[in-house]
Amino acid sequence: MVKKEAFGNTTDGKAVELYTLTNSHGMEVRIMTYGGVIVSVKTPDKAGRLADIVLGYDTLTPYLSKNPYFGAIVGRYANRIGGARFTLDGKVYKLAANDGPNALHGGLKGFDKVVWQAESFQKGDAAGIILKYTSADGEEGYPGTVHVTVTYALNDKDEFHIDYQATTDKATPINLTNHTYFNLDGEGSGDVLGTEMMINAGHFTPVDSTLIPTGKIGSVTGTPLDFTKPTAIGARIDDKYEQLALGHGYDHNFVINRTGPGLALAARAYDPKSGRVLEVDTTEPGVQFYTGNFLNAVNGKHGHVYNKRDAFCLETQHYPDSPNKPEFPSAILRPGQTFHSTTIWKFSAR
Ligand code: BGC
Repeated sequence: MVKKEAFGNTTDGKAVELYTLTNSHGMEVRIMTYGGVIVSVKTPDKAGRLADIVLGYDTLTPYLSKNPYFGAIVGRYANRIGGARFTLDGKVYKLAANDGPNALHGGLKGFDKVVWQAESFQKGDAAGIILKYTSADGEEGYPGTVHVTVTYALNDKDEFHIDYQATTDKATPINLTNHTYFNLDGEGSGDVLGTEMMINAGHFTPVDSTLIPTGKIGSVTGTPLDFTKPTAIGARIDDKYEQLALGHGYDHNFVINRTGPGLALAARAYDPKSGRVLEVDTTEPGVQFYTGNFLNAVNGKHGHVYNKRDAFCLETQHYPDSPNKPEFPSAILRPGQTFHSTTIWKFSAR
């Protein structure tokens, strides 16, 4: 089922709508048209008790001014571009440096800070919404008019599907993700250090002190980044290991093990307290595992205060800084091509 209601106005007077998707198991996902933000996700624990397992705010206002990307669609280029510049087909493009010397998450006004056009649908057992946004040629320094469509759908198998599509009229970098912060025991329930994480990745992209990949592909074997077997997030997070020091915890792009194109398992998280499980499948080559290292006294929903490591993100993506790293899978979209990517979140409890 899909329900639509008003959720306030942006500072420049644009109306924001809130859509509620529900399935026959009582699962509920709420999404607003500002930033395509996933505002809440309610799923049952092992005893059937519902809780909201994503960080966020109660009202629109804090999302407008200080959102650390809670729930948001991130683009035109998710993650970092080194030196806030890239060269494409011989031309240099300059971007806003909004993260030290680098460009982060699409710039000063990325896809997380615009109002998307929305339309709801019901198709078989899936309830969903289609969000559309046109990013103008030159917006945030990027070339080409880009038409983006993001489809969110919740089905009766407790799966939440995110489909991204984009076209352009000039060659441009594209990297689209969703930046939901999960706490499987419920938002505001404390840290996620006890959550057992499995990441289906034998390799990662090591970073420098500004979190830009060095270009090397590192093996996780024998390091605290080896999550090939389920391991508590907190088990090694404070180990004396250079990559963890640079990230202030986990803030790394993992190279998903795959045997070919198409959907592959990226990660599976299990919270032993609630029994909730989140599995993430994706067509993307990478996933950023981020442990909320920069959260600091955020006044969130229901009077809850969010701090460092009170959530984790699994941002499916192309590798950071791909536009400056020809050795990485290409993130360039050209006229005549259609960018297409899918990520599925599968919820359960045991
Ligand atoms: C980045 C973090 C950043 C966070 C919030 C993540 O995708 O990897 O470094 O702090 O987003 O902006």
